[in-house]
Amino acid sequence: MAEMTTDVLIIGTGPAGSSTAALLASYGIETMIVNQYRWLANTPRAHITNQRTMEVLRDLGPDVESEAYLHATEQDLMGENVFCESLAGEEIGRMKSWGTHPNSRAEHQLSSPSHMNDLPQTFMEPILFTTACKRGAQARMSTQYVSHVQDAEGVTTTLLDRLSGRKFEVRSKYLIGADGGNSLVAEHITTPIEGKMGVGGSMNIYFKADLSKYVAHRPSVLYWVMQPGADVGGIGMGLVRMIRPWNEWLIVWGYDINEPAPKVDEAFATNVARQLVGDPDLNIELISASVWTVNDAYATHMQKDRVFIMGDAAHRHPPSNGLGSNTSIQDGFNLAWKLAMVLKGQAGASLLDSYSAERAPIAKQIVTRANQSIAEFGPIFEALGMTGGSDVKQIKASMDARCDPGDAAVAQREALRKAIAFKNYEFDAHGVEMNQRYASNAIVTAGQPEPAFNKDKELHYHPTTWPGARLPHAWVFDGNTGEKVSTLDLCGKGAFTILTGIGGEAWRDAAQTLAQQVGIQLNVHIIGPRQTYVDHSGDWARICEIADDGCLLVRPDHHVAWRAPVISKDPKSDLFEVLQQVLGRN
Ligand code: FDA
Repeated sequence: MAEMTTDVLIIGTGPAGSSTAALLASYGIETMIVNQYRWLANTPRAHITNQRTMEVLRDLGPDVESEAYLHATEQDLMGENVFCESLAGEEIGRMKSWGTHPNSRAEHQLSSPSHMNDLPQTFMEPILFTTACKRGAQARMSTQYVSHVQDAEGVTTTLLDRLSGRKFEVRSKYLIGADGGNSLVAEHITTPIEGKMGVGGSMNIYFKADLSKYVAHRPSVLYWVMQPGADVGGIGMGLVRMIRPWNEWLIVWGYDINEPAPKVDEAFATNVARQLVGDPDLNIELISASVWTVNDAYATHMQKDRVFIMGDAAHRHPPSNGLGSNTSIQDGFNLAWKLAMVLKGQAGASLLDSYSAERAPIAKQIVTRANQSIAEFGPIFEALGMTGGSDVKQIKASMDARCDPGDAAVAQREALRKAIAFKNYEFDAHGVEMNQRYASNAIVTAGQPEPAFNKDKELHYHPTTWPGARLPHAWVFDGNTGEKVSTLDLCGKGAFTILTGIGGEAWRDAAQTLAQQVGIQLNVHIIGPRQTYVDHSGDWARICEIADDGCLLVRPDHHVAWRAPVISKDPKSDLFEVLQQVLGRN
């Protein structure tokens, strides 16, 4: 007999586990979350927080969203991505990134009520974790996952209490492995993982030093230092990353994965910092140092019966594009409402199959993109002449040559400008962040063809209400108070929502009857003049892709489940059939 029981046991309190626990607790589900360590992340690994992730925090509530903004470095301070010989030395090039280019900023503002920001993991995790605990999740620290067995009714998991050294069992209906890139849960469900682990070695040097005089005039999150003949590492490029402007930093530096990982002590760290900052007298206050490996691997399936994996357990990749924590939180947003509805008896267990069907393709996509982004530094190295061997004098001469007159230097300067601009696929890839479209049994396209992307789909977000896509954002206005509200705010919070317009009252009536019949919460909003929400600007009408009397059925995770372009002959039976399919009740 297991000593403890819960509905969902989550292994890991990282962004994946904590966000899922927060969502499940908000939906009223009994949850237990464990972490093998005594507290949350102690290094600020993830930081770039994209709009889609902020929409998840917004869905968790204004308290959660506003706390995140309170601790985050705002978007305006994120964007002058600098390439230089050292922070004190010559600047080689610069690009506006993370939505700070005016064109990109407009696209960001049009596509979401939420803002991109820089929120180190040491701030994000406590926000998510305390939300989970405050809302009812049971948390146990210093508790290590050991193994599990599952049967038709549930999962029995063996945990080790690291304080007493005692093993104990927890019986749950479902188990989630959110236990990071070396996931034991993923190993135990023998999920297929494609790709390679350990393709590169990196070290983090986390320190305090006031570097304002080198950076405050060109505020950025990332300063890329291209140094020929650097005597540490070996990749010829180091990253100085802002944690807090401008006195807390993280240096990311490579090491040869075929050699033993270096021991990073105070002297070593100070030497690297002095070299990259370009100040031989710099003193740093070392907070911590750690080594990690670059991975290029993803799970092709993220579930075995009652056990799921999410976050880095399922997608393991370098930090490029800042996708790790973001995707982990978005995995949680996809799975939590499904578990909640199945546990409440509102949906059939087959709804859970849609998790892997929808998120495994995203895992592959983001792992591929993140690794490709590393390779796409190549043209910058080439343009600077840093690829032809390790002769320091030769490299320095090639880099200097770009300042010469003459055709060769003209071509070199042009190649460098192009190579830096091309890095928008890493540093301004709004489409990668926002264009996720799902295909599964929990989406009913009813034969409506997927709209083609009319711009580069990695760089630009393409709003559409095609079933499977995220509901587009538009500001509409509260008919009573006049306050603006995002269309996304009308949806989510664990419930299905119907959006329609004047003439679509039959959808509302059908929804009210069906909500009772099917036993789910089904919110309805009619958007139009003298309705609860008014589309004064016409923005919603321009992007909703349905007639006023059409209907959008939106899932709790903001993705469109089904769309009726116009009123149907029998709204009630159409809606009933769709809900039966989406909820796996057929
Ligand atoms: P994560 O590894 O964070 O958490 C795993 C949890 O499981 C931990 O609580 C751990 O203690 C626990 N655990 C593991 N094994 C256990 C066991 N057997 N028993 C109990 N508990 C166990 N991402 C991003 O979105 N934007 C960014 O800008 C960056 N930047 C960035 C920079 C650097 C330098 C790095 C190294 C990484 C990033 N990332 C990132 C990636 C990001 O840090 C990463 O993707 C997330 O932390 C993954 O979150 P998870 O919750 O999946 O795992």
